[in-house]
Amino acid sequence: MGVYLGVDIGTSGTKTLAIQEDGTILASATEEYPLSSPKPGWSEQEPEHWWKATIDSINAVMKAGKIKSDDVKGIGLSGQMHGSVFLDKKNEVIRPALLWNDQRTAAQCNEIEKLAGGRKKLIQMVANPALTGFTAPKILWLRNNEPKNFDKTTQVLLPKDYVRFRLTGEFATEVSDASGTLLLNVKKRNWSKKLLGKLDLSRDLLPKVFESEEVSGELTTESAKLLGLNAGTPVVGGGGDQAASAIGNGIVRKGIISATMGTSGVVFAHSDEIQYDPSGRVHTFCHAVRDKWHIMGVVLSAGGSLQWYRNQLCQEEVAQAKKQKVDPYELITQSAAECPAGSEGLYFLPYLTGERTPHADPNAHGAWVGLSLRHGKGHMGRAVMEGATYAMRDSLEIIKGLDVPVKEIRLSGGGARSEFWRQMQADIYGHKCVTINAEEGPAFGVALLAAAGTGAYKDVVEACNATIETVTETKPIAKTKKTYNKHYPIYGDLYQSLKGDYAKIAKLVE
Ligand code: XUL
Repeated sequence: MGVYLGVDIGTSGTKTLAIQEDGTILASATEEYPLSSPKPGWSEQEPEHWWKATIDSINAVMKAGKIKSDDVKGIGLSGQMHGSVFLDKKNEVIRPALLWNDQRTAAQCNEIEKLAGGRKKLIQMVANPALTGFTAPKILWLRNNEPKNFDKTTQVLLPKDYVRFRLTGEFATEVSDASGTLLLNVKKRNWSKKLLGKLDLSRDLLPKVFESEEVSGELTTESAKLLGLNAGTPVVGGGGDQAASAIGNGIVRKGIISATMGTSGVVFAHSDEIQYDPSGRVHTFCHAVRDKWHIMGVVLSAGGSLQWYRNQLCQEEVAQAKKQKVDPYELITQSAAECPAGSEGLYFLPYLTGERTPHADPNAHGAWVGLSLRHGKGHMGRAVMEGATYAMRDSLEIIKGLDVPVKEIRLSGGGARSEFWRQMQADIYGHKCVTINAEEGPAFGVALLAAAGTGAYKDVVEACNATIETVTETKPIAKTKKTYNKHYPIYGDLYQSLKGDYAKIAKLVE
């Protein structure tokens, strides 16, 4: 049986996974690297670290899985989206890459909207508004702030596409990741000549665009030698980490939605036609399924809020968990479960790192609202989990408002591991929630794309159908669902009440 490698260039490390075409996992390895923040709000990484981590993790997987190079039939690439690698005419990296979570480009987002003729026109051209994390504002930032570096730039690549260049010598990307640059005509699945013209950016700066399962190039003799693989091994387009993760979750047909509660939280829906929110609250990108799209909402600190709560306020639980040899989250969840749904009127706003969906507000911050003498740690922990889940529901409601049917929600990430949080999600979303057998995220998704793209399956939908199945099912409890339906609108009102104050606070502390 053929072996397929999925390589995910993440923010904290690169993960390589080897699977057989039936989905069996043979081996996995992760190599970490640092992130630097030279100024507040800046977030950068060295592309050379991604390349080194790719070499090391592929070598580790080949060794651990005792895989022969002749058996590797294809490679798929995934990665953190929106980052920008600037290359000069010798194909050397000009400066560290700006990442998806870099916040330096607020002025350039305004500039793009203006040059595009307004927010509405921009959304009509590229299906999305300008957000600080996206790639186009980063290119304009370079032009405005480091003009010498901009003049030297001959190619701009996304993180996984820089690794592709080192693997294959090709400048190439694929539709799902390219959508997050803000330069793709998402409907036509190619670069928007119109917007490029308005921004006075040359098309030559950008690589060729492929569909996600298309072969985009082959390993060069040089890279194959470093990886212990055969020259000529095909590398398929792959996908941005969210689309790739959705493939890994089997989100390849209408009605199946995913809710991934990791550090950030993502609600992701497959769509047969291009559908976008005219006010731009959710992202509309090309899916990694040929000629399909997806709609997605991103909550910046979902599981991240509970992690913050654990780190800052739960030292006692962490010490106790160490003694009992259990995960501290188990103890935090136990005390949360002793409090009633709705946390007796305590709410938590999870905007610890600002917010993207639905508020797109870098000034938004966290808050517990409604504290009283009655409330203890259990309530505080439960409110954090409820707040993160209400934030995810905000994305779900916008997606449902676009007439996307919801038959089933597939849960993944840390929030899917706890039975208590799975039930809370079913009750707050008001839909049946399931988990599936595959837990390997984007690396699994792009390994499936590699299998589909090199002929093991007719297409990636067939690959998902053959390898993914449901393992748990959680239905909403009618009474709890009703309780949450009463609390959820109040949660929504709280941001509106605090919005003006958040802006004032931001001015005071800048
Ligand atoms: C997606 C997004 C993140 C990054 C990093 O829009 O910003 O998922 O890709 O994981």
